[in-house]
Amino acid sequence: ATHAPSYEKDCSSITPPYARLVEKLERVRELLNNRPLTLAEKILYSHLNDPEKSLSGGGKIRGESYLQLSPQRVAMQDASAQMALLQFMSAGLSRCAVPTSIHCDHLIQAIDGAASDLKRSIASNQEVFDFLESAARKYGIEFWQPGSGIIHQIVLENYAAPGMLMLGTDSHTPNAGGLGLLAIGVGGADAVDAMTGTPWELKAPQVVGIHLTGKLSGWATPKDLILHLAGKLTVRGGTGRILEYFGPGVASQSCTGLATVANMGAEVGATTSTFPYTENMRAYLNATGRAPVAHAADKAASMGFLSADEGAEYDEVIEINLSELEPTINGPFTPDLATPLSKFGSFVQEQGWKDELSAGLIGSCTNSSYEDMTRVAELAKQAKAAGLVTQVPFLCTPGSEQIRATMERDGVTSALQDVGAVVLANACGPCIGQWKREDMKGEENAILTSFNRNFKSRNDGNRLTMNFLASPTIVTAMAFSGKLSFNPMTDALTLPSGEQFRFAPPAGQDLPTEGFTQGNIHYYPAPTPEPQSETEVVIRSDSQRLELLEPFSSHFGEGSGNERGLELPPLKVLMRVRGKCTTDHISAAGPWLKYKGHLTNISENLLITAVNDEGGDVNVAFDHDHDASETENDTIPAVAKRFKARGQPWTLVVDDNYGEGSAREHAALQPRFYGCAMIVARSFARIHETNLKKQGVLPLWFADKADYSRIGSGDMVETIGLADLIQGQENAAVKLKVTTRNGEVFEIPTKHTMSDDQLKWFCAGSALNFIRSQMS
Ligand code: F3S
Repeated sequence: ATHAPSYEKDCSSITPPYARLVEKLERVRELLNNRPLTLAEKILYSHLNDPEKSLSGGGKIRGESYLQLSPQRVAMQDASAQMALLQFMSAGLSRCAVPTSIHCDHLIQAIDGAASDLKRSIASNQEVFDFLESAARKYGIEFWQPGSGIIHQIVLENYAAPGMLMLGTDSHTPNAGGLGLLAIGVGGADAVDAMTGTPWELKAPQVVGIHLTGKLSGWATPKDLILHLAGKLTVRGGTGRILEYFGPGVASQSCTGLATVANMGAEVGATTSTFPYTENMRAYLNATGRAPVAHAADKAASMGFLSADEGAEYDEVIEINLSELEPTINGPFTPDLATPLSKFGSFVQEQGWKDELSAGLIGSCTNSSYEDMTRVAELAKQAKAAGLVTQVPFLCTPGSEQIRATMERDGVTSALQDVGAVVLANACGPCIGQWKREDMKGEENAILTSFNRNFKSRNDGNRLTMNFLASPTIVTAMAFSGKLSFNPMTDALTLPSGEQFRFAPPAGQDLPTEGFTQGNIHYYPAPTPEPQSETEVVIRSDSQRLELLEPFSSHFGEGSGNERGLELPPLKVLMRVRGKCTTDHISAAGPWLKYKGHLTNISENLLITAVNDEGGDVNVAFDHDHDASETENDTIPAVAKRFKARGQPWTLVVDDNYGEGSAREHAALQPRFYGCAMIVARSFARIHETNLKKQGVLPLWFADKADYSRIGSGDMVETIGLADLIQGQENAAVKLKVTTRNGEVFEIPTKHTMSDDQLKWFCAGSALNFIRSQMS
């Protein structure tokens, strides 16, 4: 088999600038006294904006230093792209600083098959797609329309290249790591950093080495490797860490198999996952029309760029012998509850669950490679020859138009349909809750999927649906039995004739012998299109889902109404938030997701699950200035809105680790939208603290945590010393003068983490305002 590509791509914008990266790495090596580096370090440090600034401190880097990085590419999915683009637009640039792509995949429903689902979903989300498409045209962004495929599969097929650093506004962005790069999932505000050419900040992750020996065989697949590892590491085990695989067990796996492993590194909380460059990666680049990228990568590898140095030290090493792995099933409701297939039947029995499967789902961004699909097609052919069909609904989501078309050409689709499969649109569909099933409403039931996440309600909106994660082959084999206790490695199925039938372990083909076919070429955007500045970005004036962002005004200067110079105007305390307050508490998800592109509408959820420390109630704030038509107690967003209507800027007093959880920029945009100018915390989660700075909210830390309890709702707070800090006075400290509601006045000291650049953002009203001001 030659795997000759049936097409060639223009590789000019997708080949990493290896010469420049290797040169920067040489500078880095000098700064680090030539100590051996892991692959993850090489990729990260060669993308440093200014190596001297980030690395010359002399202290420990991994797990401690903050790196200012220049990613090479950004990819965004249709849900998260909305706010990212709205923010990007408010920076006033005419084009993105790095190549960027948009992928319409999350908003596509799965009801009765690809053609009708696509048509219906496009109609119901038309205004969002029109907005994304017009913004893409205006700013020179590659736009992948609905039906073209799932973001991570398209990135792997078209954009990923060994040794590069890229960002994506989706948590499974690390999937691209299958090609030996660092691909990191971020919030929209971080993506906007890269799109505007602002250095993107990351706390240098620790690096965990996963040493792979042996070889997968029989029924064990790369999915089983990561399911097994998720059981070992748990959902928090990868937090703040990069998983770097090495050893002889890497090269024996296909590139797409490695992508599955990297994809689900997100399930253990890892920053991302990566692998040294392999022969199979080269073959995949060639088969997907990117021979020039493969050629350049070969050269970079020969200079030692695409693998770890001999003697590189990891923060932890985990040993896995692939020869000993057996298929694994994880769940329900959490991806780290791993049960080996041989024990799964008894696990189901012990739990007292019904021994019934209600549906099998394969595909998604995690497992829809040609190898996965040819493996399951082989099972389907074995079953068909024996006269079997699947016993439960069996749905397949191809990851891209290229996969769909190649499956169809090579008889894979017909083999699946012959045994009862329904092929859905090339989109996320059932993986992201867009599965509108008619059965099992409100009933406890079990499904088996080859997806990556299995939180409650994730697939069909039914909290009682137990979602078990497995490899596509295990999902498929079990769909023929309809029973959770069926072990295709050891058990037989009884045919109508009474005979016993056993599956043989299926072999897949990692790449198509005749090369991939691209399918409908209308789905493919031109590479790095020129911006069409005359394009008008489409937002309906009565839209409930999209709204242009009005730039936030500065707290200082003419028109601000602030007479205190470079000190903040007097701020009223909205509330004192008690305890844990994550970005989910600040900006809830669920039904609010449809308003991601509409700041006014989504702001109605501000802090609705936060606890008020004065009284202990959830979503209650006090308005001590209420008039006769208003109540004193109201919801938090309602009181915030009253402050905004009165032109009263405000502040929040919050507890420890405020804003932990995610990079969701809405959690910073929303308070700012209602007039919040400062948040004083016992401590902040770093990413959220940076997001607040980007939106023009001043984060201050109590120097003495006990001061938290001394400030309450309705108190007035004034900054003292902020002007000195802004004017660059050395050792300037900011104090707060508090005037309580009963007239007591006192001062408290604070700390801050504002850099010089961040002070400029703050003075301009937001980072994007600052970028815009630099343009004019
Ligand atoms: Fe889509 Fe599910 Fe992947 S939502 S991006 S298919 S994790």
